Amino acid sequence: RQRRSQSLYQITEKAADYFRAQLREHPAAGRAIAYLRQRGLSGEIARDFGIGLAPPGWDNLLNHLGDSAEKADQLELAGLAIRRQDSDGTTKPGTRHHYDRFRNRIMFPIRDRQGRAIAFGGRVLGDEKPKYLNSPETPIFHKGRELYGLWEARQANRELERLILVEGYMDVVALAQFGICCAVATLGTACGEEHIQLAFRHAPELVFCFDGDRAGRSAARRAMESGLPQMQDGRSLRFLLLPEGEDPDTLVRQLGGERFTRLIEEQARPLEDFLFDLLAEGINLQTMDGRARLSKLAAPLLDLLPAGVYRQLMFQQLAARTGLDRDTLEEVIIAEKARA
Ligand code: CTP
Ligand code: MN
Ligand code: MN
Ligand code: MN
Ligand code: MN
Repeated sequence: RQRRSQSLYQITEKAADYFRAQLREHPAAGRAIAYLRQRGLSGEIARDFGIGLAPPGWDNLLNHLGDSAEKADQLELAGLAIRRQDSDGTTKPGTRHHYDRFRNRIMFPIRDRQGRAIAFGGRVLGDEKPKYLNSPETPIFHKGRELYGLWEARQANRELERLILVEGYMDVVALAQFGICCAVATLGTACGEEHIQLAFRHAPELVFCFDGDRAGRSAARRAMESGLPQMQDGRSLRFLLLPEGEDPDTLVRQLGGERFTRLIEEQARPLEDFLFDLLAEGINLQTMDGRARLSKLAAPLLDLLPAGVYRQLMFQQLAARTGLDRDTLEEVIIAEKARA
């Protein structure tokens, strides 16, 4: 088992080297480099992030690394090759049993805490679908537990005060291009408890900065729920909602690094404001009914907070907004729990 993982790390690293080399050497590299330039990325940033190219064609990587049946199987296990299914469901001796998963894509290596490439995200160079293709889960890659860009952020600064959580590869890389080297991305999945745990292990302040669209807003809400149980004293969670249609990549290119940082510092709302504003949306707190609804929505969420000063303050906030006292709020929690 141990040995199998060992060889998976090796083959994935070799694949990362191969993709990087193709971005310099392959005849298709010119178009890929033009694409990266057009997105505002310098060669230096591409190097920092180990960005590469999976060339067009079905078996480039297989030809390079999969020269035996055993190696091809390893590439499959590493999520880099896909097994062919013949129409009769068999594979015939002497024919190629695999094809490359990543073809004609810009390759973003996902690195673990030791800086080893363990998986990839691959982007098309145009508008083809799917826009991004990610490595599947493998014995060395569990996407619920990795944050893209964390290793690079730690390289830039060992004592991170803040991490900015964004949705996409390009958001992380574009922010770094503008000198903001503390952005990390969940990899096409929801930002769950394990992601937040991992992020808090490296910085006391997390700022969620998801896309200004419906998906981004609902991701922020889910991230808030995952974060609540982890709000120990001394930690902070903040939320920056971007203007409709923008993401951190488009916004930092408009504003530049300094103004983007100022935006985070001045406009990112602390958890307490974000939570109450979100829940109170569409509720008229002048009415008794509205205050009852807010308390029913908020009490079970606040109950996720661990014991501590922050929890006490949040319940005080809710009490102030609804006019209810702590005992009544406790009853609301119990009633809502019974309903769930
Ligand atoms: N994603 C994915 N598969 C897709 C689309 C998106 O895995 N088909 C993930 C990627 O990690 C992507 C992130 O979700 O980076 C955010 O998606 P989106 O906002 O659509 O992409 P951008 O990162 O903004 O892509 P780009 O700027 O390169 O167009
Ligand atoms: Mn597993
Ligand atoms: Mn989006
Ligand atoms: Mn986006
Ligand atoms: Mn984008």
